[in-house]
This record gives sequence, structure tokens and C-alpha cells, in this order.
Amino acid sequence: PDPGWTASADVVVVGSGIAGLSTALRYTEVSPRGRVVLVTKDLLSTGSTRWAQGGIAAVTDPADAPLSHMVDTIVAGRELCDAAAVRTLVTAGPDALRWLVEHDTAFDRHDDGRLELTREGGHRARRIVHAGGDATGAEIERALIHAVTADPRIEVIEHAFAPDLLTARPAGPGAEPSAAGVTVHVIGEGERGGVGRVRARAVVLATGGIGQVFASTTNPEVSTGDGLALGLRAGAPAEDLEFIQFHPTVLWLGADARGQQPLISEAVRGEGAFLVDTDGHRFMRDRHEQADLAPRDVVARGAAEAMARTGADHVLLDARGFGARMWEERFPTILAACRKHGVDPVTDLIPVAPAAHYASGGLRTDLRGRTGIRGLYAVGEVARTGVHGANRLASNSLLESVVFAHRAARDLAERTSADAAEPLATAPAAAAPDGRGGLVAPANVARIRAVMSRYAGVVRDEAGLRTALEELAEVAADPANGTAEPGTAAWEATNLLTVAATLVRAALLRVRADGRAAAEHGPAAPVPARLNIRVGLDGPGEA
Ligand code: SIN
Repeated sequence: PDPGWTASADVVVVGSGIAGLSTALRYTEVSPRGRVVLVTKDLLSTGSTRWAQGGIAAVTDPADAPLSHMVDTIVAGRELCDAAAVRTLVTAGPDALRWLVEHDTAFDRHDDGRLELTREGGHRARRIVHAGGDATGAEIERALIHAVTADPRIEVIEHAFAPDLLTARPAGPGAEPSAAGVTVHVIGEGERGGVGRVRARAVVLATGGIGQVFASTTNPEVSTGDGLALGLRAGAPAEDLEFIQFHPTVLWLGADARGQQPLISEAVRGEGAFLVDTDGHRFMRDRHEQADLAPRDVVARGAAEAMARTGADHVLLDARGFGARMWEERFPTILAACRKHGVDPVTDLIPVAPAAHYASGGLRTDLRGRTGIRGLYAVGEVARTGVHGANRLASNSLLESVVFAHRAARDLAERTSADAAEPLATAPAAAAPDGRGGLVAPANVARIRAVMSRYAGVVRDEAGLRTALEELAEVAADPANGTAEPGTAAWEATNLLTVAATLVRAALLRVRADGRAAAEHGPAAPVPARLNIRVGLDGPGEA
């Protein structure tokens, strides 16, 4: 439909978690006159960030070193990380943390003012900073929302869904189209209600993850892969989409539980809790030298195998050794969530099972957040910067968002001050998802999720992934799709199908590559290393 209203800004940011808020704020800090419109499809605070428990990883202890953080990141990522991106992440980490403190984030501290540090899977040092015990994301989100709403050069539009990219085609033969804004549908009345568009000289996707593509996830309802799907529709290259991280310790609420499930932070294991199967066996001890604090993918696979062995649909986390006081002071959020569901972790074993948690891949970016489309940036979980490889190291996600938001903001400032040409004609980039014409009926979402959890979960094989593709093709061909009314539910369903189908295709390529590697090198090489990474802080990269 024709836009009812048009807003203009230098930069439009889509999404309001740590990545979107940090990019918007940092941009106005480094661009003296730059103006931002920030659109978010629900409330400012509704994204994944506020659910982040464990914390934010950065080297602050003199006994620790960025090189050690780099090694842990690359080992957890199965050596499929880009070394330059990791180097950038770990060296910029302390400054990113300081910036959050300057914006009034109250991290937990010892009486003498030093930051309290904890450990999580894959980290060989205590380097994870936290807030409110186990409510780190909520505190960061609070502080950044406060700063964004106080910034007169950032206009926030809530309840605003951005289905499509606007592109401008500069004159001249062979000129590449560039991002020129987004179409926006706002639920509500008033000046910015209904259908509109935001024209801007650059677009930043900071829409977070895709957990809702699975039946059971730690992600909130809004994590439906909207930015990833928008980018794919517009033709932006994506990478590593098959590398979905499953968190091993998600409170198990029964086989029929669907949607967002309560997370039991890895920091609980970092403070000494351990996993047992339903026969009481400490299965992680046999699997990895770091046992319960092995990288997350190793623990998730360990749990999946323990469940297959015992026939149970969960394993158990034993944190009874903490005692009531430590539970109350250090993990109040998790304690409340467990008790709400009838489990008292002070005296009971906690039933847990793996659930979809994080997209390690996404839209491919360079070290300044630039995607393959001119003027289109991606920051945070929607982006694939190369820092995570096959499996993100715990608590590197909040860090990545701030570090790369700052880098993108600097690039945006250069871009918006230099390139003054107003795009003349804009049109939605709008190839329909999967090249098809229409929307997907919201009634199909449950099937998409069931297919993904069954065939594209922790354990995958070629036959299952082929079945998944067939089932997703049936969903795409469902005649009921023709009756779908444009609106958030149908756009989300459409985005979920786009993301699911692309993910399964990537996973198929990966299992075939794994099969070839296993044939050549034996079954001990399940993930073929793509890079021969030289680990060191003095190599290429941008500090
Ligand atoms: C957790 O607290 O276990 C999650 C941290 C993360 O996802 O990095």
C-alpha cells in the first residue's frame, strides 16, 4: 500500500536491544548533527537483551589477557571464527564495558569497587561481568533506554514493523542499488500510525535472533528473524546460518512446552553446579577436560546423548550445594523462575534440556557492520561478523553488540557526513520470500517450529534435513496462505519460513561437508576447519 506518512533521518535503526540502542546512541555521539529514527516492532524493552542472564565477557582482571579471551573464543567456535574479527572483539572489549559504565550501567562490584567476575562454559578465566546477580541484560537495557529516550536526536517509534528495505538506484550504468530506508507499519493512531516509511541514508538492522523458528527456545516471542529475512529478501549475503546454538540448561517444563522457556544461566555451572543424567551419572566428566564448563555445543550434545541413553527427555542440574543465601543473592531471577514452576533449586535437582538459544551466523558483515548491500548495516545477533564461528563463546554476544555498534556508528558518521546526495527514487527491494508471491498464514507457524525442532535441532542428519525441506515446501504451498491478511502475525510467519528454509539448506551443505571430512579424516572430525587461524593479537584486525 502507498505510504501514509514519510519520516526522514540520516540513519534508521531497526531493533531496540543492546545492538540497536548502542548503535543509535554512539552514532549521535560521534556525528555532531546526525539524526536517527529507531523503529522497534514492540516496546523498546521487549527484545532478547533483557533476558540475558550470565553477563558480558571482557578482560578486566590484570591476571587475565585479551589473547586468552581470543583463544577461548576461537576454540569454542571450532576454529571457524575469523581471527581479525575476534582480535577486534577482545581488544575493544574493555572500552566497550567502560562505555556501558559511563552510560550508567550498574554492574555488580565487590565492596572495594572492583567488578565481580564469574565464569561460564569455554572460558578458562573468570572474566564475565554481571549485574543484579543474574539480570545483566535487563540492567544494560534499562541504562541504554534511559540514554536513548533522553537523546533529542533519536526519534523512537514503537509497535513499528519494518517488512521491507527501500532501495535507491543511483543514476549511471552498473550503479549498485543502495539502502535508502524501510517501509514501516505502525500499530496505533496519530502522526506516525498505520503505513509509512522512513527514508534514510543508511539502514541498520539490529533485530536480534531467530529462536522462535524452533518449538522450544530461550528467546522471547519477538525473535522471529525479521531483520535476517528482510536482508535475505533484499539480496544481502548471509553466512553460518546452520550454526544455531542450543543452550544446554533450559528449565524443562514437560514434553509439550512450547515457545520461550526459562534459562538457567551457565554462570550457575560457573559457580560450581553440575549436570547428571536421570541415572545420577555425571556425564560431562567423561566427555571433556572442562567437564560441565566445556563449550556450550559440547555440553548440549552431551545432554542430548545422555537423554538418548537414558530415554528421558531431560537431564538434571545439581546446584543444591549453593544453599539458600547464595541462591537468593547471586541468582534471584533464576530462583524465582524455578520456584514459579514448582522446583526449589535449594533442595531439588533442576530438570533441564537443551533449547534453541542463539544464531551464531547471520547477514555477513565486515568489521564496520557493513553488509553486502551499500548503506545496509547489521549489528548484534542478526549479523555474522565472524567472531562466533560454529559456536559462540558464552557472554560474547552482549560484547559483540557494543563493540560492533561502535564501529558501525563511526562508519555511519563518515558515510552520512560525506555522501550528501539525496536518493531520488526509492522502491521496496521486495523480492517475495523464497521468490514466492504471498504471505504465510500464521496457522502454519506451529508446523514450521515442529519441523525445525524435530529435524534441525542439536543432532542432525541428511535424511532428516531433506524431510524438513520437503515439509517446509508443503507449508509454502499451503492454499491457506492465500487468505493471510497483511499484519504482524503474517509477516512474522513469512519471515519464519524464509529463515527456516534458508537455515535447513545451509545445514544440508554442512552435513554433507561433515560427511566428506569424516570419510577423509575419520569420524573425529565432525566440523571441517575452514581456517588455519594464527592466534595472536598482533595480526591483522582493527583495534
Ligand atoms: C547464560 O547466562 O548462560 C547465557 C549467556 C550467553 O548466552 O552468553
